[in-house]
Amino acid sequence: MRASSRSIVDPRSETRVADAMVPTHVAIIMDGNGRWAASRHLPRVAGHREGARALRRTIEAAIGCGVSWLTIYAFSSENWRRPAGEVLDLTGLLRHYLRTEVAELNANGVRLRFIGDRSRFDEDIQRDLQTAEHDTAGNARLNLTVALSYGARAEIAAAARAIAEAAQEGRLVASKIDEASFPAFLSTAGIPDPDLVIRTSGEQRLSNFLLWQAAYAELVFLDVLWPDFCRDDFEAALADFARRERRFGARPG
Ligand code: FPP
Repeated sequence: MRASSRSIVDPRSETRVADAMVPTHVAIIMDGNGRWAASRHLPRVAGHREGARALRRTIEAAIGCGVSWLTIYAFSSENWRRPAGEVLDLTGLLRHYLRTEVAELNANGVRLRFIGDRSRFDEDIQRDLQTAEHDTAGNARLNLTVALSYGARAEIAAAARAIAEAAQEGRLVASKIDEASFPAFLSTAGIPDPDLVIRTSGEQRLSNFLLWQAAYAELVFLDVLWPDFCRDDFEAALADFARRERRFGARPG
């Protein structure tokens, strides 16, 4: 893995982005693998394979830019409804990715976490997910969270269920649940909210991704298809972010 040193230049204006303006947490909806493959008359799996390469480039770019938290939407809870062959291709790619990439990610100081309903994956994959989390738990250079079989509504409903159960058993007082205490029940407990959400492929929606956590995130939609995503695109999104005025609902001062 080659992550060059931190100096972000907006590829459009060629001005330098100040380190202070680099987002702490970037989340990415990696979209457009299928269209990338179709435009080349290739099977969809070829798009997903190339998408995995783009992911590798993106991790390097995030490290190079000084981003500390990166969350990627690799498999949504809705993706199980795709044709069986494509689900098999995607889970096969995940299995391969876990077996071939984790050692290098570990060597590069990447801490892996997985959010989503992992019980739906084959047992060997579940084991590899657990091992990857365990083996990389001491790393802190980049915190990489991979959303797998993830859906934000299910996550929020599960949090509500856990709170109701805790209240019922007398472990928690209902009046103590507020915006500050609720996130501890989400799968992202302990992870800062994303500052920037990037979606590729020109689609402009969140598709059930981090609905609670992205409440104040800046959104950047790029026309590039995910397999073509490169460091310049990542830096352009960061430069766009640096130009935004974040008010968190407050009036300009
Ligand atoms: C969306 O493209 C992408 C996905 C559903 C899968 C994302 C997977 C990768 C980037 C590969 C890395 C994967 C793992 C498991 C590590 P799409 O198929 O919806 O594209 P389309 O909208 O053009 O059809």
